[in-house]
Amino acid sequence: MHAIGVDIGGTKIAAGVVDEDGRIIAKVRRDTDPRDSDSVDHGVIEACRELIASYEVGAIGLAAPGFIGADQATVRFTPNLPWRDHALRDIVAAELGSEIAIVVENDANAAGWAEFRFGAGRDVDDMLMLTIGTGLGGAVVVGGNLVRGAFGGAAEVGHMRVVPGGHYCGCGHEGCWEQYASGSALVRDAQAALITEPARGTRLLELAGGDVEELTGPQVTRAAQEGDPLAVELLAELGRWIGEGSASVGALLDPAVVVIGGGVSAAGDLLLDPARRGYLEQLFARGHRPEAQFALAAMGNDAGIVGAADLARL
Ligand code: BGC
Ligand code: NA
Ligand code: ZN
Repeated sequence: MHAIGVDIGGTKIAAGVVDEDGRIIAKVRRDTDPRDSDSVDHGVIEACRELIASYEVGAIGLAAPGFIGADQATVRFTPNLPWRDHALRDIVAAELGSEIAIVVENDANAAGWAEFRFGAGRDVDDMLMLTIGTGLGGAVVVGGNLVRGAFGGAAEVGHMRVVPGGHYCGCGHEGCWEQYASGSALVRDAQAALITEPARGTRLLELAGGDVEELTGPQVTRAAQEGDPLAVELLAELGRWIGEGSASVGALLDPAVVVIGGGVSAAGDLLLDPARRGYLEQLFARGHRPEAQFALAAMGNDAGIVGAADLARL
């Protein structure tokens, strides 16, 4: 059976028809205004309509960047978008008709499931996936099962507190891991460095067109790939947070592989090497136990689509 997977991001929606082997056979995109929840709903509905018109599909999975209720129908809370108790499944179902089953899933859970089934986690039973983008998303697979928790909110690792009294988070608390290990954290720290260390920031400022406020995560990655010392350091710091936090998660779940995805993972080893180091430095029982491998996500930007579709089919 073919299924549709929809990956709902802050500014765009990507949807695809996915076969049972995780291959995308058609794909569409819609731009949306993140402040306008209606525009997101409409983008999802239009993207699905377009695909349904040309393909026979048996299920639809919608992946959204927040806490999804255990009913797999409601987006309860998105830290970086304005959704609160948003009945996404029913809104979409009312427009598309009731023949096709629709489920709502967390975006990182969807990406992690795709990596587990078809990507960097396909050879293990226990896996942690971290998606490093605007937020820090998590997916946990234990013994081959995706862990959702009693209320749907398991694997919200980005909101574990790692720094008491630390940076404020979109979730309303302080010191969340996401505030130290996300694309937003990277940009915030880079912007701060351009103010406090202008002499080291010339390349970054140039890439940002001379305006600190316009600096983006991909520009930091690009500068680091060119060898810019400040950018390399900023990514290494992010990597360290990823690794140290993964060691803490490991104390709870003991995954075989930590899969790193999301936009910031484009930095590759500039991020992964420091993450491995941070992990080993904090690893419990180090030297007396196997170590988790750190691997880049294998499915790239399509993981959310593929995983949402596959989970909808289950
Ligand atoms: C949200 C998660 C989401 C992640 C990535 C976090 O802030 O709490 O639900 O998976 O961002 O989008
Ligand atoms: Na998750
Ligand atoms: Zn938080």
